[in-house]
Amino acid sequence: MTPKVSRFLRDHAPATPCLVLDVDRVEENYRRLMAALPLARIYYAVKANPAAPVLERLVGLGSSFDAASWEEIEACLAAGSRPEGISFGNTVKKESAIRAAYAAGVRMFAFDSEAELRKLARSAPGARVYCRILVGNVGAEWPLSKKFGCELEMARELMILAGELGLDPFGLSFHVGSQQTRTDAYEAAIAKVAMLFTDLRDAGVKVRMVNLGGGYPVRYRSEVPEIDDFGAAIMGAMTEHFGNALPEIVIEPGRFMVGDAGVVSAEVVLVSRKAKDDPVRWVYLDIGRFGGLAETEGEAIKYAFRTPHDGEVDGPVTIAGPTCDSTDTLYEKANYRLPLSLDCGDRVELLATGAYVTTYASQAFNGFRPLAEHYV
Ligand SMILES: Cc1ncc(COP(=O)(O)O)c(C=O)c1O
Repeated sequence: MTPKVSRFLRDHAPATPCLVLDVDRVEENYRRLMAALPLARIYYAVKANPAAPVLERLVGLGSSFDAASWEEIEACLAAGSRPEGISFGNTVKKESAIRAAYAAGVRMFAFDSEAELRKLARSAPGARVYCRILVGNVGAEWPLSKKFGCELEMARELMILAGELGLDPFGLSFHVGSQQTRTDAYEAAIAKVAMLFTDLRDAGVKVRMVNLGGGYPVRYRSEVPEIDDFGAAIMGAMTEHFGNALPEIVIEPGRFMVGDAGVVSAEVVLVSRKAKDDPVRWVYLDIGRFGGLAETEGEAIKYAFRTPHDGEVDGPVTIAGPTCDSTDTLYEKANYRLPLSLDCGDRVELLATGAYVTTYASQAFNGFRPLAEHYV
């Protein structure tokens, strides 16, 4: 938790549940990433946290943006981004959204299928397009494999077709999975993309850009490699495979940029046991899966907790949200322990929750309002 977030919580005691996010930390993260990968152009993955103060700060720093929808493009434009600084990175787009983006001046689009490519040829003529390939997601705590990307052979054919359809076959992309904890995941993906680069060059298609996607991790309960380790592994692999004919390098960090800038402040609503002698207490918070903690699905992302009783004797807990849906149970198997003195009404903090929380909150499931947000 940054000192600014901690001061805000102390001085304002905002109603819970809420996210408090330090925008200066976002700037620090942007600068750290630039230092780790100085040759890469940063396209912030807006989906991680699309709040105006975040986007405006990043526009001021010269960031570009990876948008998943027309609505995210509008948010970037409203924050002051130039349309040329926006990539429409979702491989699944309504044609009306492509048309709107193109009319607004967006000229870079992702695809991973022929049908999508044909939509782009119709509705974004001449645009720069890049094909997403399937790569391994081993090491990712929030994998993105299978749903997006295509096999190399198909990508090769589609990139050739892109040129024939009057589009600019600009680049290739991949995503090694979010909260990727292994630097070698990027090395393997870069090797794969480099093979396709060569094949395409032999086929007369001069690809100029490699988009390494996101995945750069945040420290939750466990240590993760430093961003400089990712930078070194990535640049090592790029140089190994491309020599000094490096293509343009794009990265699309989401989680890394905003994750550790934010803290969710929540209230303990109930502490109970299912039997008198049950060693496991159930701790119910006023935020759960439907309040924005969607990444606790399968206990994939394991947030760290702070309580007013840290350091006291603790015991095993199951942690759950406040709604009447039993899937609104956050952690049952991940061996969470919380202080025995934790009680109803205590405030607890969930650390590093600046990414993928606010926009996952439901409108009013069980009547609960979406998560409140404070940007400091
Ligand atoms: C196309 C694309 N780029 C970038 C990201 C951001 O990934 P991360 O938050 O792991 O950096 C995502 C996440 O879903 C994505 O789908």
